Amino acid sequence: MTTWRKRTAVLISGRGSNMQALVERAREPSFPAEIALVLSNRPEAAGLSFAKSQGVACAAVDHKIYAGREEFERSMQALLDLHRIELICLAGFMRLLTPWFIGQWRGRMLNIHPALLPAYRGLNTHERALADGVKIHGCTAHFVVPAMDEGPIVAQAAVAVLDGDTPATLAARVLEQEHLIYPAALERLAGGSLHILGNRVFCDDETEAPAALRNPAD
Ligand code: GRF
Repeated sequence: MTTWRKRTAVLISGRGSNMQALVERAREPSFPAEIALVLSNRPEAAGLSFAKSQGVACAAVDHKIYAGREEFERSMQALLDLHRIELICLAGFMRLLTPWFIGQWRGRMLNIHPALLPAYRGLNTHERALADGVKIHGCTAHFVVPAMDEGPIVAQAAVAVLDGDTPATLAARVLEQEHLIYPAALERLAGGSLHILGNRVFCDDETEAPAALRNPAD
């Protein structure tokens, strides 16, 4: 049994393409994390079917049946404990988390955001980037802290905005990058090579950064 691999849960609410990218990378025998649970707050989330088809343990904790956020989160926490989860990746998980839950997972929970943070926190990032006329957009993998879409940045990838872009075309190119940097960020966290100092994240093996973690212009 490969006990050295960090047992990781991926929390989703919908399509789950980032979860899929994580599951696929984690199949590599040398990858330091295994996706031990996919957890959705929506029982009908499309991503659950993919996870099931891959033989990954899945669960749904429907937020709508709980009286409040904390009751919902305590139920999630019980499942995470049951599956002996060590790390969490939020991947399109559309519920705000309380400071209590985030505190349980401080330094052990990542999120993927479709913008170059700290620009464009929140929703509709591609629409807003196009409306502002920015020439560079992208995505960010970061540690989760109580403030939404903040937290030390592990990896970013930049994408050029093209003249003909619509929110959908831009989203598609950004998503391709998300699928590269998110597994790379998890690889580093699970491999124990990340250190957080204030807002900055340092990596032991920075000189060997995989392409997905480098600026595409390099
Ligand atoms: C991604 O764009 C991610 O950055 C954001 O929500 C979207 C989820 O997509 N947090 P998917 O479910 O991973 O396909």
